[in-house]
Amino acid sequence: MNEEIIVIGGGGHAKVVLSTLIDLRMRVQGVYDDDPQKWGKECFGAKIVGSISGLDPLLEGNAIMAIGDNKIRHTVAKRFLKLHWASLIHPYAFVHPSASIGEGSVVFAGAVIQADVVIGGHCIVNSNATIDHDCVLGDYSHIGPGVCLAGGVSVGEGAFFGIGAVAIIGRDVGKWSIIGAGGVITVDIPDYVTAVGVPARVVKRHDEPTRPDVAMKSILV
Ligand SMILES: CC(C)(COP(=O)(O)OP(=O)(O)OC[C@H]1O[C@@H](n2cnc3c(N)ncnc32)[C@H](O)[C@@H]1OP(=O)(O)O)[C@@H](O)C(=O)NCCC(=O)NCCS
Repeated sequence: MNEEIIVIGGGGHAKVVLSTLIDLRMRVQGVYDDDPQKWGKECFGAKIVGSISGLDPLLEGNAIMAIGDNKIRHTVAKRFLKLHWASLIHPYAFVHPSASIGEGSVVFAGAVIQADVVIGGHCIVNSNATIDHDCVLGDYSHIGPGVCLAGGVSVGEGAFFGIGAVAIIGRDVGKWSIIGAGGVITVDIPDYVTAVGVPARVVKRHDEPTRPDVAMKSILV
């Protein structure tokens, strides 16, 4: 792609997105972040030019979200009605031709996405994660670095897998649930919970109605 792209979010996660854009030889038009202390600074040659909240909701152009937090990505995606959300696949990722990847999703270096996987919109498949055949990832989900999903795992909207977590074949993880780093999913996990450990057990239940209504705030993840 030769067109310029707008990057939304200028924190740590943005470093990986920006380096992926460089490896894809894509040009960055500007980076936006709500933390004024970042304005004017550069990251890998891309300038942080202003706030996200100051952008026109009817802004047009190619864009990618560089925000690790699933709820904030959800909020931002609903705010901008006319942006074209690009999907990024690092050249060192493997994506089987039968897999599909939704708009706004990013696949980082070392990730492996096998046959007939379906990845929704605005998902993150982080470095070295492996997603085996027939998995389905809901919109806004984030599969952390080094996560291994066996075949046929279903990941609900907005669910998050911490670094190194594992799910055995065919398990379901509910929407907006959080799997702690290193957790091993051996049974289905319901919606809106945190599960940790080996095997993973539910340790927290979240308040469902507060889920997507995250204020636009400084994006530091
Ligand atoms: C699970 C996690 C999100 C913390 O959630 P939290 O709601 O803040 O949970 P808490 O820290 O209050 O921990 C709750 C309990 O789970 C335990 N716990 C937390 N994370 C755990 C983990 N990964 N494995 C095992 N136990 C864990 C805590 O020790 C605590 O146990 P206790 O009640 O007996 O003291 C976090 O620990 C984690 O694993 N994050 C992964 C981050 C990551 O991989 N990021 C990658 C970004 S690219």
